[in-house]
Amino acid sequence: MNSYPDIGKGDDDFTLKLDLNIPEKTLIHVDKIALAHVIHNLMKNAYEAMIVNDVDKENILTATASVKGKTLTFTLTDTGCGIPERMLKKIMMPFVTTKTTGTGVGLYFCKQILDRMDIDLSLTSKENIGTSVTLKIPAR
Ligand SMILES: Nc1ncnc2c1ncn2[C@@H]1O[C@H](COP(=O)(O)OP(=O)(O)OP(=O)(O)O)[C@@H](O)[C@H]1O
Ligand SMILES: [Mg+2]
Repeated sequence: MNSYPDIGKGDDDFTLKLDLNIPEKTLIHVDKIALAHVIHNLMKNAYEAMIVNDVDKENILTATASVKGKTLTFTLTDTGCGIPERMLKKIMMPFVTTKTTGTGVGLYFCKQILDRMDIDLSLTSKENIGTSVTLKIPAR
């Protein structure tokens, strides 16, 4: 099973859309380096999912952030290849990968790091449409 046929077949350009609405007074208690590492991994997954798109499909990565009550919600949505439903339950497990060059530990480590900071990660995906990952970060 490989959802990543022939890297390089598609177009590796993508559009980044940012809609970040975080009031200046918002405080979050996180390990900055660890959180940056998680976001880097999620963006890498999104990028890798989009570069296999056919050239006629637009590659758009959208990052949104907003604060409601005591939660900062950060969402990354890509228009990549998406994840087949049967794969969805497995992708947080270590060494589960559909990529020829992947190790399958990215999401597993993201989840471990986020759990330590009480940050909830949820993921929704539709095959051939794209994937959305949401982080719920405790804020005050
Ligand atoms: N944004 C995404 N779009 C499509 N598939 C995804 C996305 N994020 C994760 N996946 C799927 O989940 C699998 C596991 O992701 P994970 O980040 O854990 O490992 P990997 O990317 O394969 O390898 P690694 O991150 O260790 O280099 C991927 O192989 C891919 O099939
Ligand atoms: Mg990865």
